[in-house]
Amino acid sequence: MGTFDDYLSTFDNEPGYLNWAAFGPLSPSVREEVFADADLLGSGRPSSLALVGERIGQARELVAELLGAEADDVTVQPSSTHGLAQALYGLRGTVLAGSGEFPSVSLTLERAAQASHGALQPRWLTPADGRITTDAVAEALDDEVTAVVVSHVDFRTGYRVDIAALRELIGPDRLLILDAVQSFGVIAADYAAADVVAGHGYKWLRAGRGTGFASFSPRARERIEPVLSGITGTTASGLFVDELPAPAPSAQAFTVSGPDTLAAGRLAIGVRDVRDAGVAAIEARLAEQVDAVLEIADRHGIAVSSPRAREERAGIVSLAPEEPARLAAALANAGVVATARGAAVRLAPHAGTDAATLQLLDDALASCAGDTFISG
Ligand SMILES: Cc1ncc(COP(=O)(O)O)c(C=O)c1O
Repeated sequence: MGTFDDYLSTFDNEPGYLNWAAFGPLSPSVREEVFADADLLGSGRPSSLALVGERIGQARELVAELLGAEADDVTVQPSSTHGLAQALYGLRGTVLAGSGEFPSVSLTLERAAQASHGALQPRWLTPADGRITTDAVAEALDDEVTAVVVSHVDFRTGYRVDIAALRELIGPDRLLILDAVQSFGVIAADYAAADVVAGHGYKWLRAGRGTGFASFSPRARERIEPVLSGITGTTASGLFVDELPAPAPSAQAFTVSGPDTLAAGRLAIGVRDVRDAGVAAIEARLAEQVDAVLEIADRHGIAVSSPRAREERAGIVSLAPEEPARLAAALANAGVVATARGAAVRLAPHAGTDAATLQLLDDALASCAGDTFISG
């Protein structure tokens, strides 16, 4: 696979899937290569096991390439929440976060604060529209704040923060910790402006669960204590017995145990495919898909609460219908897969979303908005 069109042609799931912000159906290359890796692991041959073991290094290198980081700064993790926990448990001082963040941010920060015996305090941001804008962070900033933890793209509002503006606002002396779950691989941003970036491969990278990662810049490593450091995070290179080595002076300190090599392989393949297709090209196509979804919602008079400006959004459209349950039922009946939560219905296309899927959405919204009726 090489060209952008080749990449688009790999979207082979059946029409109606608009739930990429929840789970990305596995790509053909991930499916094929994980079978091959599993066969190698089934052989028991040391050379075959070593070959699959190389997936860890490949994943770290590819993630680093997309983040503008060094491979040594990147760790593979079981999930993005594991990566965030590695960062948040090692922080001190006051940490800003939105109370409405995905719980991987909010709950992890709260638990880390509880375990810190007063050394770490969350300061919750509660903007009315749920958007953690640069202004909202500015209002809450004072000398006690040591770090800001934020989703690059919010899972609920769809709002995309301006990483560069946040970095400029908080300056070099505070840490910027980014949850890039809803943007990595589909938004070409300046990730290197953040100190810690956590993400995973099971949505937009189409690589399945177990594919978390987190990067820790040199500045992050100076300031975050590796309190959750495990047996793979030490200065020892092999097995150690009768000694308790110190945490490694590298990002490896923020790991616990040996990674799942099959998962690392899936992550590497998912990242390789978006790298080869070009993240900027994916971003541009995704923006067009989101425009199409917005146009359909507008045409049927359904309110949209997510941002419309391209630079403030990624792949999430949040609808605020008058009758959310009715809309959710109409979508399900039409074979449209979306996420209905409370008063909101979240739609998330991908670059490869086809015209048939948008037509199903259009038909479902038409039936719900009462545009169509049966006479006679
Ligand atoms: C913004 C965000 N962060 C974190 C997660 C959870 O990630 P993981 O399952 O890798 O811990 C999700 C899942 O939907 C999410 O949307």
